[in-house]
Amino acid sequence: MASFKLICSFLLVVLMSSCFQTQAFPGLGLIPEFYQFSCPQANEIVMSVLENAIAKDPRMAASLLRLHFHDCFVQGCDASVLLDDSKTIVSEKNSRPNKNSLRGFEVIDEIKAKLEQVCPHTVSCADILALAARDSTVLSGGPHWEVPLGRRDSRTASLRISNTNIPAPNSTIQTLITKFKQQGLDEEDLVALSGAHTIGMARCATFRQRLYNQNGKNQPDVTLEKNYYNGLKAVCPKVGGDNNISPLDVSSPVRFDNKYFKLILWGKGLLNSDEVLLTGNVKKTMELVRIYAENEDLFFHQFANSMVKMGNINPLIGFKGEIRKNCRRVN
Ligand code: HEM
Ligand SMILES: *[C@@H]1O[C@H](CO)[C@@H](O)[C@H](O)[C@H]1NC(C)=O
Repeated sequence: MASFKLICSFLLVVLMSSCFQTQAFPGLGLIPEFYQFSCPQANEIVMSVLENAIAKDPRMAASLLRLHFHDCFVQGCDASVLLDDSKTIVSEKNSRPNKNSLRGFEVIDEIKAKLEQVCPHTVSCADILALAARDSTVLSGGPHWEVPLGRRDSRTASLRISNTNIPAPNSTIQTLITKFKQQGLDEEDLVALSGAHTIGMARCATFRQRLYNQNGKNQPDVTLEKNYYNGLKAVCPKVGGDNNISPLDVSSPVRFDNKYFKLILWGKGLLNSDEVLLTGNVKKTMELVRIYAENEDLFFHQFANSMVKMGNINPLIGFKGEIRKNCRRVN
């Protein structure tokens, strides 16, 4: 009898939270069970599309992980990043950090189309981004975590906020810390989440300054290891070749591991924003780079925690926003 009561009250809470999740229950935020009844196949559908997409193009895992980051830092995790230009929308896709850079929109479209067939008008594009980021991490060999769900999709986008909130690759450590603080993320989150650069590629335009003109001095960044530096110059000439790409983690570009942190210790971090975690004279971030380079389990653990934290940035819940039918436009 007691266990019956327990099960009943559990079900009630889950039902209430998925059916009536509103601002009237401020204690009820996102929950992993959100689609348990309305779309129990949601997780499998996301995973199956990603398995194919990543088998075809291993870099796609990195691109999808990045999409969730660029979504969450602009008006919160509300799929604003997915909206195309229209009469009412000025797309974030044309912002400085995003233009000629973000990838993976077609994969999100494919997931959304499958979900609309199986559970129409139920799973938000913002939740698809959060699940895709987790599954991309797992499929690349990284940690697993439960993804809190129940985000809804925005009816707006902000090109301006996309330009201001997403840090540039030549940011100082102070700028990185400030931009993360503005999102409620601390130094521990900054270092762990930067570990996403254990997979994926970056364009010459994003690291050229380090090779030829660090701090406007017409000199290379002295922290770059010699051989690595020479290799980068071959990919990234002083003029032209803006879209030539180089791995963010040169030793294992499609494997989610803690090599990224070891590379930083060896002067082989690609972006200035990677390097300054160690050389920016902030004790806390320096220590964490060393700790994660030593201990992959600790990095995986903190990465999972920080991804949940990032995924919780200002979601639309209750009656706010909408569930888009097509992730590229408002209903
Ligand atoms: C700390 C501040 C960060 C800066 C300054 C930064 C900057 C960049 C830049 C410049 C690129 C290359 C873009 C291009 O070539 O056009 C890149 C790629 C990438 N970033 Fe970040 N990033 C940061 C944090 C993050 C975070 C928090 C994540 C995810 C949790 C992330 C995930 C990625 C991934 C996976 C790629 C590779 C994408 C691909 O290959 O398509 N980054 N980042
Ligand atoms: C970063 O790069 C941008 C664009 O190339 C440039 O305008 C800016 O001055 C650079 N900032 C720093 C701190 O070097």
